[in-house]
Amino acid sequence: SRDAPFDGGAPATLEEIAAGVQVCRRCDLWRDATQGVPGEGPGRAKLMFVGEQPGDQEDLAGQPFVGPAGQVLDKALAAAGVPRTETYVTNAVKHFKHEQRGKRRLHKTPDAGEVVACRWWLDNERRIVRPRVIVALGATAVFSVFGKAMPISKARQQALQLPDQAQGVVTYHPSYLLRVPDADAKARAYAMFVEDLKFAWALAA
Ligand code: URA
Repeated sequence: SRDAPFDGGAPATLEEIAAGVQVCRRCDLWRDATQGVPGEGPGRAKLMFVGEQPGDQEDLAGQPFVGPAGQVLDKALAAAGVPRTETYVTNAVKHFKHEQRGKRRLHKTPDAGEVVACRWWLDNERRIVRPRVIVALGATAVFSVFGKAMPISKARQQALQLPDQAQGVVTYHPSYLLRVPDADAKARAYAMFVEDLKFAWALAA
């Protein structure tokens, strides 16, 4: 049952979270995933990034944002002057949801039930890391971090107070930046993303 103590009580450390995510049965996504992907970064980071869920490469590597979206994030962080190693990077959902199409595993957006089930882990990461600023990358992260939907283009570039003392910032998901079809629009979206990373880093300073 979902209530069985597979992951014990509330974790006290990031190591306990990493171990707990591997045996989590709070939803069914563990069944088709290689492994759980916990957050990564210093336990006292001032800035926390929350993505959606691991992708194909993250599922294989066991680390967040190491695939194509991670490369966009890394490039934008460098452009914004934000050292990734000083930030904590995690996801709203810790297992890769996908469907098999031939040899390819295609990403499927996690549903609200899966996001709510996995919020237990994110809430524990927030409680342990206590970041000054939490950046929600894209709609799934916005729903997980704020508990409601928000239009990203209207809510970006603002410090949004969260109940746990942290300030919330919303911006686009790096995968979205890869999908914008028009080249000019893509460049503008990427520039806004870099501005949002700068904004969040300054807010956390
Ligand atoms: N997309 C995400 O949201 N998170 C990852 O870790 C990788 C891709």
